[in-house]
Amino acid sequence: MSWCSGFEDICRADVPLRDYTWYRLGGPARWFVTPHDADELRTVLRRVRDAGLAWRVLGRGANVLVRDAGFDGVVVHLTGPAWEEIRYDGECVHAAGGVDFPKLVKQTVQRELGGLEGLAGIPGTLGGIIRMNAGGRYGNIGEHVATVRLLNAELVEETLPAAALGFAYRHSDVGARIVLGATLQLHTGDADALTARFQEVWKAKHAEQPAVSVRSAGCIFKNPPGQAAGRLLDEAGLKGTRRGQAEISTRHANFVLAHAGATAQDVLDLISLARERVFGATGIELELEIDVW
Ligand code: EPU
Repeated sequence: MSWCSGFEDICRADVPLRDYTWYRLGGPARWFVTPHDADELRTVLRRVRDAGLAWRVLGRGANVLVRDAGFDGVVVHLTGPAWEEIRYDGECVHAAGGVDFPKLVKQTVQRELGGLEGLAGIPGTLGGIIRMNAGGRYGNIGEHVATVRLLNAELVEETLPAAALGFAYRHSDVGARIVLGATLQLHTGDADALTARFQEVWKAKHAEQPAVSVRSAGCIFKNPPGQAAGRLLDEAGLKGTRRGQAEISTRHANFVLAHAGATAQDVLDLISLARERVFGATGIELELEIDVW
């Protein structure tokens, strides 16, 4: 009996992960499962654990590079009504882990709730955004989190306040736990001012970074303390460098673009080369910001 018998409606085999990532690169998932809600997720994960299979959660695939060989395990995709619930309660918003973050940002601005407008233009699910404490020049999501509801390794639900989640630059202590949902603490604002700010942040991002139509996973490396990875890569002369059909953006050196025909290996080769060059020039070891599966 297969580990997923009885769950055939939500479980598929050999699913190309390129269809689920911004990079549109990489091989298949051995199994791809879309539980309808947290109860089903818990049951599925118990089976996965008992079968000794590796597993990962995939959000919008905005920060993930899947290797060409794919992922030999179970990919859990949190999609559907229960994972996309948003509930407003005064200046708080309760949102499920699979909520599309750009949609949430726009909605809060329209409802005259301030806080997230500085995070305009960051793709991903709320869960993914919280897990990596995504953000930029105008702040990080961790600053707006009140509590996070998690499914832990024992498959038990726990709700933790932000202070217990170790939010730091592109880091949280969520780790292998799954973000089921979160409560964000926002503040009442003025619709025109919030909209203007949202547009300003969005425009700045698009003026400085490659177009969203070009395949990438956003910034490849974290900024080392006190440094900008983009500047280090630029100063190492890497802009425009290619390996196969992957290229270091000529607009912002911390973006590796995937042109038509690129493989995940092309991107990985370019990442290795960039690391070596920057290390050779500065002695700084760049750390990946993206997840490589
Ligand atoms: N720079 C260069 N050359 C380049 C790119 C940047 O000299 O090719 C210089 C810039 O002139 C600037 C400095 O490096 O002085 C920092 O660059 P930028 O202002 O573009 O910000 P960043 O640190 O590279 C961060 C986030 C971005 C986020 C922006 C804007 C990281 C790794 N990146 O970029 O996030 O969009 O701020 O808020 O923290 C992402 O996480 O995927 C991402 C793109």
